[in-house]
Amino acid sequence: MVKKIGIITAGGDCPGLNAVIRGIVKTAEYAGVETYGFMEGYKGLLENRTMKLDFWTVSDIIAKGGTILKSNNATNTFSIPVKNENGDIEHVDKSFEIAERLHKEGYDCLIIIGGDGSLKSARDYTRRGINVIGVPKTIDNDVPNTDTTFGFYTAVEVATEAIDRIKTTAESHGRILVLEVMGRYAGWIALAAGIAGGADTVLIPEIPYDFNAIINKINQRRAKGKNHSIIVVAEGAKPIGGNAAVRSVEATNSGLDVVKLGGAGEFVAKEIEKLTGYEARSTSLGYIQRGGNTGAYDRILSTEYGSYAMQLAIDGQFNEMVTLLNGKLTHVSLDDVAGKDTEIGAQSSNIKTVSMDCDWVKTARRVGICLGDQ
Ligand code: F6P
Repeated sequence: MVKKIGIITAGGDCPGLNAVIRGIVKTAEYAGVETYGFMEGYKGLLENRTMKLDFWTVSDIIAKGGTILKSNNATNTFSIPVKNENGDIEHVDKSFEIAERLHKEGYDCLIIIGGDGSLKSARDYTRRGINVIGVPKTIDNDVPNTDTTFGFYTAVEVATEAIDRIKTTAESHGRILVLEVMGRYAGWIALAAGIAGGADTVLIPEIPYDFNAIINKINQRRAKGKNHSIIVVAEGAKPIGGNAAVRSVEATNSGLDVVKLGGAGEFVAKEIEKLTGYEARSTSLGYIQRGGNTGAYDRILSTEYGSYAMQLAIDGQFNEMVTLLNGKLTHVSLDDVAGKDTEIGAQSSNIKTVSMDCDWVKTARRVGICLGDQ
C-alpha cells in the first residue's frame, strides 16, 4: 500500500509540468496518498527541500507553464562535486544516502518527471532500491519509447506562430528569413513546425545539409516570382562534413550535458547571404518555446500522464515510465528507456531522433519542403 510519494520535476522546464503535478496530486488525494514535491529537481532531493502538496496547492495551475516545484538541470546526485581536504574537487555518489533517507522518511515511491538525462537518473534510483515511476517531459520530443513527450506540441504551436509572423515580413522585403528552433540533437520541433508553418526549407540534425540544395530551393521560388523564403533550422543542424553550432561548453565533469547549442540559424543566414547576395536575416526563438501557457493538447496529455503515473504507484507497478504508444496510454520499463546496460550515474544519450522513414519526413518531401539534402 502506497501512503506517501515524492514528486520531482527535473531538467529544463517545459509546458505541462504543472498539469502533470496536478494530475498526480488530485489522483493521490482521492486515493488518500500523501504527496510531497522536492524543490528544484534533483537539487532539492539532495538537500531534502520539500513542499507539501494537496488540492489547494495545485488549484488553478493546469494552464501555467514552468513548475511550481522549480527545476534545475545542473545536479547529478550520482556525481556531486565536493572539495576534499587538499582543496581539490572530487565527485561523490550521494544516491546511497539519499535512498536511505527516503526509506527512513517513509517515501513509498518517487514520481520523476524529466527528459532523457533525468529519466536515466530515475532508472538509476531503482538500482538503489527506490520505487520510481517516470514521466517523459521535454519540448524536444526526444525521449525513446513514447510517441510524444508532453510540452512538445505547445513548443510546436509557438514555433509555428513565429513562422507565420516572420513570413509576412519576409514577403514584404523579399528576404530569406531563417528561424532557429530548439530540439538539441533531434529535429522534431523544426520538422513539425516547418510543416505546420509552410516553411520552404527545414534543416534537422538527422540530415546534414548542403548549401547547394538550400540555394536551389530559394532560386526555384524566385524563378516563380517569390523572392522570400522561410528556412527553419533546428539548433542541432549541421552542414555535410561540419559540426553543430555550439554556444558554450560548461566546465564540469559531473556527467551532465555540458554542451549548449546555439548559432546554427545565424550561420545559415550569413552563408546564404555570402553565397547568393540575397538579403538574409535570422531569428532565434529560444526560451519563448519553453515558457508561457500550456496548450490544450499538452494539458490533456499531462493530466493523463500525471494521473496514470499515480495510478501505477497505487497499483504497485514500479520502475516504469508512463508513455503513449500508438496513441494508447500505457507504460514501459525505465530500463528500456535508459538502456539496460548503461552505467549507473552516467547521463543517458539514449534519445529518439527523426528517422528517415518517419511519416513527417515523407510528408515534408511530398509537399516540396527542402530538407537540405536534395
Ligand atoms: O531540452 C530542452 C531544451 O530546451 C533544449 O531544446 C535546449 O537545447 C536546452 O534545453 C537548453 O537548455 P538550458 O535550459 O540549459 O539552456
